Amino acid sequence: MIFRGAEAVIEKIEWQGHSAISKIRNKRSYRHPSLEQRLVTERLRSESRVIERLLSEGINVPSLYEINLANSEIVMEFIDGITLEKGLRTDNFREYLLSSAKILSQVHSLGIVHGDPTTSNFMISDKLYVIDFGLSGFDDDAESRASDIRVFLESLEAHHSEISGREIFLESYSEWPSSKEVLKALEVLELRGRYNLMRG
Ligand SMILES: Nc1ncnc2c1ncn2[C@@H]1O[C@H](COP(=O)(O)OP(=O)(O)O)[C@@H](O)[C@H]1O
Ligand SMILES: [Mg+2]
Repeated sequence: MIFRGAEAVIEKIEWQGHSAISKIRNKRSYRHPSLEQRLVTERLRSESRVIERLLSEGINVPSLYEINLANSEIVMEFIDGITLEKGLRTDNFREYLLSSAKILSQVHSLGIVHGDPTTSNFMISDKLYVIDFGLSGFDDDAESRASDIRVFLESLEAHHSEISGREIFLESYSEWPSSKEVLKALEVLELRGRYNLMRG
């Protein structure tokens, strides 16, 4: 086992001669079993649809090897590298920020919102990859895209306050021609956040 999160158990396995990752979603026992099974199946289907679309467009995401709906398992290519969270603690942090903004804008340009783009959901090997599409979906609203950006920026602030990554990231994201509306929506989101904080 290499990782046990709140949502899934991740194991490194061999799959037809390839190094692979098996991700098995935890069952939440407090839900009705058949409802739970339906939700998990739905999520897995949407997760794999998103990954397939990104792969077909040449975006750097792990190849999809197998999906087992029966035990809520998804098997994918093992990325032999480090998480962005670790990568940002190296001298190459600037380059990694530029790449993560670029890949997120590519995902957005395909009408997909990641849903949880924290710095542990990007991996660096020979290239920078985006992973963990458990909360992703097809969505092209500026607000949803802005919410992705906000998750990334908050993760930067929480784990990497030592670098001023925000400006580097936003500058790179803004190279995407359709980013203007998203950045405006981000401003609104952040203002609303500060207002709520002020009101307590
Ligand atoms: N394809 C992969 N290759 C290598 N490591 C991975 C891969 N997928 C996940 N991991 C590792 O497992 C961790 C958790 O996986 P993730 O898909 O993000 O699950 P969770 O939903 O629990 O966050 C990642 O942060 C990464 O360190
Ligand atoms: Mg994750």
